[in-house]
Amino acid sequence: MQKILIVGASKGIGAAIASLAQTNCRIISLSRSPPADDIPEHYPCDVLNDPLPSIEGALAGLVYCPGSINLKPFSSMKSEDFRNDLELNLIGAVRCLKHYQSNLQAADSASVVLFSSVAVQTGLAYHALVSASKGAVEGLTRALAAEWAPKIRVNAIAPSLTNTGLAERLLRDDSKKEAAAARHALKRIGEPEDIAQMAVFLLSDKASWITGQVLHVDGGMSVIK
Ligand SMILES: NC(=O)c1ccc[n+]([C@@H]2O[C@H](COP(=O)([O-])OP(=O)(O)OC[C@H]3O[C@@H](n4cnc5c(N)ncnc54)[C@H](OP(=O)(O)O)[C@@H]3O)[C@@H](O)[C@H]2O)c1
Repeated sequence: MQKILIVGASKGIGAAIASLAQTNCRIISLSRSPPADDIPEHYPCDVLNDPLPSIEGALAGLVYCPGSINLKPFSSMKSEDFRNDLELNLIGAVRCLKHYQSNLQAADSASVVLFSSVAVQTGLAYHALVSASKGAVEGLTRALAAEWAPKIRVNAIAPSLTNTGLAERLLRDDSKKEAAAARHALKRIGEPEDIAQMAVFLLSDKASWITGQVLHVDGGMSVIK
């Protein structure tokens, strides 16, 4: 069975990816808290502060899920806020990609899935932090896709608001949920499985001619007004 490393399989979208992908892949999980699902190989690790564990053999896939949604007016954002968001969204991914590059290269072919946000394609007020840090992730996606082709494909998924712990503050009550659903052409917010289906597709051979792309899984939010 091919091995897939999911950084952030303990909850949210990463947990949904693990549960869909584990039918035909061996999932390796890395996060600070343990995954809820029964994943045989889990490494407790903070990707920003701890040494990354070594993994034996080839990795056919790497998914990096840690990310942030810090929304506020630009006037109250500090430089430090931008550094922190870049650290989690970009530098953490860079650390993992550098550390596991040789495992990815050891596979016949491999697929990397990173996470952007609808807020890069679409200008949204109060989203400067997420837009800037995820914009960097999109740049990294295209540059690495060029550098690592043809053996390793690198793509990013840009979700809109999705029902996970990360989005909890934005979905606290029914009125917030209804307002958020109404902003999307498809009249609902995302569920972790909506995003996980795209990740599993990108990890699979069915996506073997797709690299350097940002896939928008967003209920139409980025293009339909
Ligand atoms: N949810 C949304 O509305 C939404 C919208 C647009 C984009 N996105 C992006 O989609 C991705 C997944 O989002 P999500 O909603 O599933 O997030 P989530 O519910 O917060 O899950 C994030 C995962 O990453 C792990 N993680 C976070 N910090 C970590 C660290 N320092 N070291 C190791 N693991 C860490 C968490 O596990 P532990 O806490 O156990 O470490 C968790 O498993 C993110 O990049 C996010 O920015 C989400």
